[in-house]
Amino acid sequence: MLTKRSNQILLPGFVFLTLFSLILTSCATIPIAQANPKKEAGMASFTLKTGLGNGKMFFIGVGGDIDGKENPDLKVGPGDMVEITLVDGEGAMHNLVVPDFNVASKDVVGKDSTAQVSFTVGQDGTFPYYCGVTGHRQAGMEGKLIVGSGKAAVMEDAPEIVRDPTDLPGPIGDRPPQKVRVDLEAIEIVGKLAKGTSYPYWTFNGKVPGPFIRVRVGDEVEVHLKNAASSSMSHSVDFHAVTGPGGGATMTQTAPGKETSFTFKALNPGLFVYHCATPSVAHHIASGMFGLILVEPEGGLPKVNHEFYVMQSEIYTQAPFGQAGPQSFSETKLANETPEYYVFNGAAGALTGDHMLKAAVGDTVRIFFGVGGPNKISSFHVIGEILDRVYDQASLTAPPLTDVQTTLVPAGGATVVEFKLQVPGRFILVDHALSRMERGLAGYLMVQGPQNPEIINGTPTTGSGH
Ligand code: CU
Ligand code: CU
Repeated sequence: MLTKRSNQILLPGFVFLTLFSLILTSCATIPIAQANPKKEAGMASFTLKTGLGNGKMFFIGVGGDIDGKENPDLKVGPGDMVEITLVDGEGAMHNLVVPDFNVASKDVVGKDSTAQVSFTVGQDGTFPYYCGVTGHRQAGMEGKLIVGSGKAAVMEDAPEIVRDPTDLPGPIGDRPPQKVRVDLEAIEIVGKLAKGTSYPYWTFNGKVPGPFIRVRVGDEVEVHLKNAASSSMSHSVDFHAVTGPGGGATMTQTAPGKETSFTFKALNPGLFVYHCATPSVAHHIASGMFGLILVEPEGGLPKVNHEFYVMQSEIYTQAPFGQAGPQSFSETKLANETPEYYVFNGAAGALTGDHMLKAAVGDTVRIFFGVGGPNKISSFHVIGEILDRVYDQASLTAPPLTDVQTTLVPAGGATVVEFKLQVPGRFILVDHALSRMERGLAGYLMVQGPQNPEIINGTPTTGSGH
């Protein structure tokens, strides 16, 4: 975990600079904190030759400790880069897969042809490797990749950081402008990323996204940002609803244990992202420091039965998606924009279990949807629904689009969508860049009520509600 030491990221006087120069200056002078400093990882190379005998198929180790062994244990250290060369020993087609690391070699066909895979392992654990050609694993071509002790850290689930999608204040409606106080606290917390997996989150108020803030156009907003004494980093907040340098970030660079504040006037109605803007900003956002502020237009928004709060973001871990145990932040993957996880409300599948969205046939639904990012846009879509109204780009002053299938939401942007529910069932919130669904990005809207065969009629086939 982070230590107090690793985090001297702000210098006195910094706060007077604009955000942009903040970033530039910090790049030149300040080491970026590593979430999990550890010893230099090693490299481990193995060669496996395929073999046949006694009606069985197997891998045989070549060279080193594994020489001549059938389906040898491949022992490596945590964090090691692993390279495996596969040699076709008898001419049949084979390959090598290590699914826990998303590794699959190309096929080898013909005696002495070779294929190579290389990948990086994470924490201790034992993982199968095998031949992915149909039937070969069953015929015996399977061994173990043993990382460290081979024992996966048995992890109690870390505390939950998911913001419930119903956790938002009710409509403001018809009132004159007034003063509003907003209290934010930067809290660093190791939280549950997926089952048996944790991540060192940085949050506003302990959940991801941060609290949904609701004001009215013309309000004078007094923002207080506390940074918990237990924090290892400085934090800040930039509201896209603010007119002024850094959106408030120049006045809220806040060291651990300190508090800052500023006031702003909400000049423009709309749904706006806010986020931490302390360098490296992308790291702070990727760790969970973002939320939405709704500036209601005069008179408020039309009444609906349900309002939901959903935000999408990406998480960049050192180990591949799906690996059990505590995960750490990868600066390289962030720089390359190659996330391992895509999430709604902070964690893999967060809105498919206890936090699924619920409504009934006949209800009207409004989703306040934002993208924290830091990098990826969302092609937001609800499987099985047509968005009756889309406040495109979260503009509440332009007329909404009508009858939309999929709406594009930029990184650091938002949208408001509304629809009426005519039939019961499970409707799935997705980013229609659907590969991301395999990396944690899905949410369920469960709708109860009577069937409506006039609108859809048929016999469900097996399984999924797609
Ligand atoms: Cu921060
Ligand atoms: Cu921003």
